[in-house]
Amino acid sequence: MKRVPEPQELMDGVPQAQAYAEADFSEANELFLDLFDHLHPDAFRGTVIDLGCGPADIPLRFACRHPEARIDAVDGSLPMITLARRAIETAGLEDRITTRCQHLPTRELPASAYGAVFSNSLLHHLNDPHDLWRTVRHCASPGALVLVMDLIRPDSATNVDLLVRQYAADAPEILKRDFRASLHAAYTLEEVKAQLDRCGLEMLHVEQVSDRHLAIMGTLP
Ligand SMILES: C[S@@+](CC[C@H](N)C(=O)[O-])C[C@H]1O[C@@H](n2cnc3c(N)ncnc32)[C@H](O)[C@@H]1O
Repeated sequence: MKRVPEPQELMDGVPQAQAYAEADFSEANELFLDLFDHLHPDAFRGTVIDLGCGPADIPLRFACRHPEARIDAVDGSLPMITLARRAIETAGLEDRITTRCQHLPTRELPASAYGAVFSNSLLHHLNDPHDLWRTVRHCASPGALVLVMDLIRPDSATNVDLLVRQYAADAPEILKRDFRASLHAAYTLEEVKAQLDRCGLEMLHVEQVSDRHLAIMGTLP
């Protein structure tokens, strides 16, 4: 099935951001953290950057699993980062999770500063996927861990419908619409491998990790 780009990169509509923040992504977000545990079975003690953090559910869960980690949570959408800040304050974690409202790509992020670089469900939003890979290279310190997870584009519109029915049947209309658009905008394993080769990140491993997700994982030199 041919890829259809997202209508817009940022999720900066207030109702859109609110609906996303209220949805339950615990299954996918716990999978993300479990994948990190495979990469790094011990408690993580450094600083992590989460690119396209949305309402910061992954930073919050990560902070609880790794009590000595610090996290910079970055998103270009002001409504989304406002929801993230509120959730971080409610959890009392503002001393360990810092939010940054920044639209990628940007040179404003610290260079070679992070021991781990995360991103979940951002790649398919970008007009140019290489913006993510260049940002990973810019932010990561030598030897940094990288974990990027995203949807995989199904091979047919019928399979898009099946996934929307299976995972968003009871979701508000706006979330169903966004999930459908995301599946159409997602990349295949082969497309992601080609992106990594082009950006000099061929040492990272690409794998399908669920019926609808792929992950890019590994350690940088
Ligand atoms: C599908 S959400 C994923 C949120 C979060 N990572 C999660 O797993 O729930 C994608 C997020 O990426 C943000 N985003 C999209 N393009 C971006 C860009 N160029 N720079 C910064 N953030 C971006 C959107 O605003 C949105 O919050």
